[in-house]
Parts: sequence; C-alpha cells; structure tokens
Amino acid sequence: MNYRHAYHAGNFADCVKHALFVALLRAMTRKDKPFLILDTHAGIGRYDVSAGPAARTGEWRNGIEKVLAARPEALSDYVALIDQLGLYPGSPAIAAALLRAGDRLVACELHPEDAKALRTAFAGVPNVAVHERDGYTALRAFLPPPERRGLILIDPPYERPDEFPVLANALETAHEKFSTGVFAAWYPIKHRAPARSFFETLKLTRMKDVIAASFWLREPLDPARLNGCGLVIVNPPFRFAEAALPMLEAFVTVLGEPGAGCAVERLIDE
Ligand SMILES: C[S@@+](CC[C@H](N)C(=O)[O-])C[C@H]1O[C@@H](n2cnc3c(N)ncnc32)[C@H](O)[C@@H]1O
Repeated sequence: MNYRHAYHAGNFADCVKHALFVALLRAMTRKDKPFLILDTHAGIGRYDVSAGPAARTGEWRNGIEKVLAARPEALSDYVALIDQLGLYPGSPAIAAALLRAGDRLVACELHPEDAKALRTAFAGVPNVAVHERDGYTALRAFLPPPERRGLILIDPPYERPDEFPVLANALETAHEKFSTGVFAAWYPIKHRAPARSFFETLKLTRMKDVIAASFWLREPLDPARLNGCGLVIVNPPFRFAEAALPMLEAFVTVLGEPGAGCAVERLIDE
C-alpha cells in the first residue's frame, strides 16, 4: 500500500467527491429515520494542506484553494462546511459533522498508520466507529445495517490494476445484500475508456437505478494523468441528479482548463 491520501487532500478530485458527498448526506438527513454511513476507504479524516505531504505536492492549490476563493453559489453548502470545520475535512470528518444523534458512521481504513490517525481523530466521538480493515470485506460485514437505511461511500485508491472490476463486483454483491442502500463509488478519469468500460460492466449487473456524475478538468486524453473523476451513485436520492449538475458546472467554471466538462448520466433505469 503506497497510496497516502495526505498527498492529495483538497485536490480537484477530493473537492468534487466531497461536494457531492455533502449533497448526498443532506438528502439522507431530510428524512427523520436514522441511517448508517459506511465509509469503506476513509483515509485519516482531517488534513492540514498548508504543511506536510499536501503542501509538498501543492495539489490543493488547484482544488480547494480555488474553490474557496471563488465561492460559487452552487457549492455554497460544501464551502460553508469547509469554513466551519477548519482543517481540510476528509470524507469521515464531513460525515461526522453532518450526522445526527441517532445516525452512525463506520469508517474503515486498511493502512495501519492512517487507521491509527483516524482512530485518534475520532476518539471519544460517540456515534463514530473506526475499523482497521479491508473496506471491501466491510461491505459484507456491515450490510444490511439494522437501521435499514444507509449511505455507503466506496473510495479506493486505484493502486491495484484490477480496481475497476473488483469495485464493480463489490458493488453488485453489496447491493444484493442491501438493495435499498445509497451507494456512491468514486472513479478516476484518466482517459475515457476505463471509466466507460466500468459503466458497461455495471450495466451487466442486476442493479437498478444507477447514475454517474463526472467532471473532467481537461480533455481526458493523457492516460498518465488524473484528468477527471466522478461518482457512480446507486439509488440516488430524489432529484439528486438535477442537484448535482450545477455543482459540477461550478467546478468547470472555477477549476476547468481548456476542454473541461461535466455530465450526469443515467447508466441503469429505476
Ligand atoms: C482515496 S483515499 C480515501 C479518501 C477519503 N475517502 C476522503 O475522501 O477523505 C483511499 C484510502 O483507502 C485506503 N485503502 C487502500 N486499500 C484499502 C482497503 N482495501 N480497505 C480499506 N482502505 C484501503 C488508503 O490507505 C487510503 O487512505
């Protein structure tokens, strides 16, 4: 495991994922009934982008720094949360900030040092549980949740060459166990073919009601660069697709280079 998220915290891909994640969490909290948030690949929780690994790569300067400077209306909820939380929040910190007294966060992280940091970050927080374990097996262990409502974020590092098929398989299996869960799976866009092939694989599963929200910073032509990213969402909340598009368009305006763009597409009907 060479990937350390601290080098990439606050980059454009993190911002896109987190802004959409905030919108998903808001949609889940619109109903009174408690729910589980399962973060299968959680990272360390909070990141100081002005020092250490993130400062060394400077990736955040082309991400959260520009978003905070531009503060587009469509991203106002996400921006307000960043302002409120101080250190750049990773997905578990965002989830912890938005969950209510009856909701629960289960955050899994496999890297021993990162799991330790994550555990420290949430020590004593009552409805947050940190597990040092494989996020894919966590899908089998924690689903379906007793609450019968859940938002599951699957955010792997794509270090392994077979991450796309492994993810597609894990999604299908998890969906079989918990067909009403809201699943959000992050994917990279380097060039178009791998993401398209991932979508085609998903279409061959028995899942229903699947959309993909994609953003590309520049024309995705160079397979050696992270040119874009997106979230595949299974069982998206009511009108989520309509809410996601202006958010992605704001990222195009604020961060886009020539050839930037975005799309929200339906992969599988309800
Ligand atoms: C992209 S980062 C997660 C970022 C985090 N979700 C966020 O948005 O703030 C992926 C994380 O998954 C961890 N990881 C890698 N393989 C894993 C596995 N099989 N199970 C759980 N965590 C894993 C890595 O150590 C890394 O911290």
